[in-house]
Amino acid sequence: MNLKVLHKVSYGLYIVGTKKLDSINGQAANTVVQISSDPTSIAVSINKQNLTHEYIQSGGYLTVSILSRETPLSLVGQFGFKSGRETDKFSGVNYKLTEHGLPYITDHTLAYLEAKVFTEMDAGTHTIFLGQLTAAEGLAEGEPMTYAYYHQVKRGTTPPTAPTYLSKEK
Ligand SMILES: Cc1cc2nc3c(=O)[nH]c(=O)nc-3n(C[C@H](O)[C@H](O)[C@H](O)COP(=O)(O)O)c2cc1C
Repeated sequence: MNLKVLHKVSYGLYIVGTKKLDSINGQAANTVVQISSDPTSIAVSINKQNLTHEYIQSGGYLTVSILSRETPLSLVGQFGFKSGRETDKFSGVNYKLTEHGLPYITDHTLAYLEAKVFTEMDAGTHTIFLGQLTAAEGLAEGEPMTYAYYHQVKRGTTPPTAPTYLSKEK
């Protein structure tokens, strides 16, 4: 099997926001996809080790902040290479809360979605969460960041916890 061909699969780049009781967290994710139009539902694949995983299972909701191409690597790094277990991810970042109290980023964000999780699927290292949309609003005009643009133009990298990570041996 040539796993390198998986690099030809296209994605965007997002911040998934979560809430557990009075605490909020978020992480970078490229694996957001619309699944159905009626009801309007989305899916995201989240590593079982991530604090975000625990928060989604506990809170039952998630948000998706759709990042613009101009998003600095430092913002992706804050949400994609650090865990909310060690740091307050939203410190120094402009964000708002949805009606359900979920955070979404307002810096470098074109639009946000909010979804109520209605089912989850075990995918080994990751869980696929399926959620029905409960909010969707545009915030700014611009081009969304793609996973390819993040790697090829911004020269960003991906940690082993991302579902698309390929180790050097593979
Ligand atoms: C570009 C990029 C894409 C990522 N995509 C995903 C993803 O789709 N799913 C996932 O579980 N982790 C993904 N990650 C890794 C998480 O963002 C990372 O493990 C994060 O530190 C988890 O934080 P938490 O412990 O606060 O939840 C990605 C990271 C980067 C930089």
